[in-house]
Formats: sequence, structure tokens, C-alpha cells
Amino acid sequence: MPADVTMDKIVSLCKRRGFIFPSSEIYGGLGSCWDYGPMGVELKRNVKNAWWRTIVQERDDVVGIDTSIMMHPEVWKASGHVDSFTDPLVECKSCHLRWRADEIENQKCPQCGGELTEPRMFNLMFRTFMGPLEETASTVYLRPETAQGIFVNFENVVTTSRKKLPLGIAQIGKSFRNEITPGNFIFRTREFEHMELEYFVKPGTDDGWLDYWVKQRLDWYMSLGITKENLRLRQHGKDELAHYAKDCYDVEYLFPMGWSELEGIANRSDYDLTQHAKHSGKDLSYYDGQDGERYVPYVIEPSAGVDRSVLAFLVDSYHEEVVEGGNRVVLRLHPSLAPMKVAVLPLSRNERLAPLARDVYRRLCSSFMADYDDSQSIGRRYRRQDEIGTPFCVTVDFESLQDNQVTIRERDSLAQIRLPLEELDEALRAKLSGEAFDATTLWATREK
Ligand code: GAP
Repeated sequence: MPADVTMDKIVSLCKRRGFIFPSSEIYGGLGSCWDYGPMGVELKRNVKNAWWRTIVQERDDVVGIDTSIMMHPEVWKASGHVDSFTDPLVECKSCHLRWRADEIENQKCPQCGGELTEPRMFNLMFRTFMGPLEETASTVYLRPETAQGIFVNFENVVTTSRKKLPLGIAQIGKSFRNEITPGNFIFRTREFEHMELEYFVKPGTDDGWLDYWVKQRLDWYMSLGITKENLRLRQHGKDELAHYAKDCYDVEYLFPMGWSELEGIANRSDYDLTQHAKHSGKDLSYYDGQDGERYVPYVIEPSAGVDRSVLAFLVDSYHEEVVEGGNRVVLRLHPSLAPMKVAVLPLSRNERLAPLARDVYRRLCSSFMADYDDSQSIGRRYRRQDEIGTPFCVTVDFESLQDNQVTIRERDSLAQIRLPLEELDEALRAKLSGEAFDATTLWATREK
């Protein structure tokens, strides 16, 4: 991350360019809730697609699933969340702000210096009622992790997929936590999306698989452009392991507020399946035909936050630079993550340019997320595309009407080349389809 990237700059860019808005803004917003705008929804979708592609599509040992947010309440007793998914809460006796006791240094209110109450354990699960009666018997929870939907379907998936262990089950979906101190934009919110893989393995092989997945996950972030120096691993101390974990590593990223958790990769042992077997009365052991053994599998769990990943990709790609005599802000997003892959820009609003420019846009948008922009000066439109991270701009000018060629401008190098229209689609496809993202390749291909 360049030294001058602050959270304020990221929040401001996100608002200005339609990535992320405060939720319910016209009513003054709702604490820690955010809405994804037209650019944000594309970026977020691209992050999820990139994860799904690597974790599910490109592997024959992982399948996907999509389970419901509300589950049988016994699930959360079995998983330990009813008893143990808590943070110590203290309240200021003067200003009544609430804090997490383990984040307070001098036992005084960080806001006003007032005296604090004794800590009490606060459960982070959101509770609601299913059906018309608001009574204890109808209490249900909004899931605080997607993982439990996977564990309770372990048997269904093993039986129907006819796959053998090691087997992974992956899920992307919303989770909810009534965090005491949400904050840092979309870093910690009360509603967020998880991308979770539960990878079931034979006991005894779990340590090796934990190492394997730690490496896989680090490689994934780097393959999508995150700077290696901004990532690090941190192993949990025995005293901070979650109630279900035998071992755990955090992938940390150097966010503007400092090194913070981006993803957790835990060895959950056989805790969850054993607990669900006990509480449901169902046998959740697995018969390993190859070794002729029956056992309760161990689980390795890489668990990432979609929103937190979006924030890391935004921060890492954010650059301010002086080019062509002016300042520009550019998001050097990996092309697969960029909300728009290409923008079609007629040189001016002159009506002679519009038909061809529109035609180029129509042709491109069936293959790529494409933007069409004919407002303001061409310079300003380039700046806007730079700020949303569009890898390529295609400019239609008066010469294009004569020679059927357009100018392609590449976001990072600012290199420009003229290309016959009939080659445009193929050239962009080659550049965007996962080849090394280096503008010189496109131009080199042309020169051959
Ligand atoms: N199933 C295991 C689990 O949920 P976790 O470490 O609590 O583990 C995994 O969460 C990831 O989910 C975190 O590394 C983070 O990226 C994301 N996450 C957790 N709580 C979050 C919150 N309140 N807001 C945004 N993202 C969150």
C-alpha cells in the first residue's frame, strides 16, 4: 500500500464513483451498514466469482452449496455459539457508550474518560422470532457464519456427490454479528458476506492440509494483484484460539489502520461434526473405503470476508500519480476484478460520432462489462475510468469514420494504439482472459 492511502481517501472515492454508500443515507445512515453501488456491486461480484472459480470450478475435490440464513436453533447450541460466541462488554457510566473490554487499555472510557461498568459477556448473534409468536420457543438466529450450514449438510453432500475424502464444501453468503465496535468502513460491519470452505480430511493428515490451504490462500490474493509485502501470516496463540479450533492462522493485510485480519484459516478438528452428531442423534462419521476405516473427519477451514477482501483490493490498487501534467487517481485493479473492462468514449458529443461509437459499445457489451460515456471532455472521462479501474478505453474519433480504426488506451501504461475495429473484440479478450497483465504484449502482438 502506498504510504499516502488513507481510509478517508478510499471512502471518498467509493462514494464519488458509486462503489459504496452509507446505508439509508437519506435518513442519516445506519451504523456500520453500507450499500454497494453500481461499481461496487460489480467489484464485489467479481471477487466472489474469482474465489468460486479457484475454490470450486477449478478443483474436482470441492463442491458448492447455498444454505439458508436461519437454521434450527439447536444448530447454534451444538456449535457452541449460544454459549461461547461472546465478547466482553463494558459501558461508560457517564456517556453510556459501550466498548469491548479486551480493547480498552486504561480501564477508562476512550470517549470521555468516565468510569466503566464491570464486563459482562455479550452474545454476538442477532436473535429474531420465527412465526407470529414472540416467545422463547420461536427464537431463531441470523447465522454468524456460513460454516454451520455446511456441517449439517455434510452427509447429504457426501451421499449425493459420490465423492471421497478429502472433500471440500464451499459456500458464499451473508452472515450477521452484533459487533460491539464495528468500524473502519466495510472492515468490520454487523452484516457482511463470508466466503467459506470446509475441507474434510482424514484425522492425522490435518496438519499437512492446514499448511496447504494457508499457501493456497496467500497465493490467491497475490494472483489477483495484492502486493506480497502487504500480506503476512500470524499464527494464533493457544489463548486466542476460537472454541472449536485446534490451530489457526490469520492472513493479515496492511490496511490503512495497520496490520489486520483479512482471512482466518483454522483447523476445526472434528469438533463440529462430533457436536452435531451428539445433538442431532445422527451418525456423521465417514467410511473410508480405501483404508477400510470409519472416522469423524477433521476440517480445515479457510474463511474469508467478501467485504474485507473488497477493501483490501481497493486499498492495494489505489494510486495517486502525476501524468500528462496533471494528477490522477487510478485503481490498478486486476482486470478480472475491475467493475468495467472497457469504456467506449466518442471523442466528443458530435452527432456524427455517436452512431459508430454506439455500435462499438453494443458489440462489446455482449462480451464484457462495458461503459459508454460521452459527457464532458475526453480528459475528464479518462480520469473517471482511471478512478474506477477500467483497464481499457476505446476512443472513436473522426478518423474512425474514415478508416474504421479506434484508439485503445491502456490504464496503467497509458500506452495508446490504433486498431482495426474487427480486431478489437479479440484483442480485448486476449488481454482480459488471464494472460499476464502487461500492455506491451498486446502491442507486441500487433507489431509481429
Ligand atoms: N467460520 C469461521 C469464521 O467465521 P472469523 O475469523 O470469525 O471465522 C472469518 O471470520 C472472516 O470473516 C474474517 O477474517 C473476516 O474477513 C470476515 N469477518 C468476520 N467478521 C466480520 C465483520 N464483522 N465484518 C466484516 N467481515 C468480517
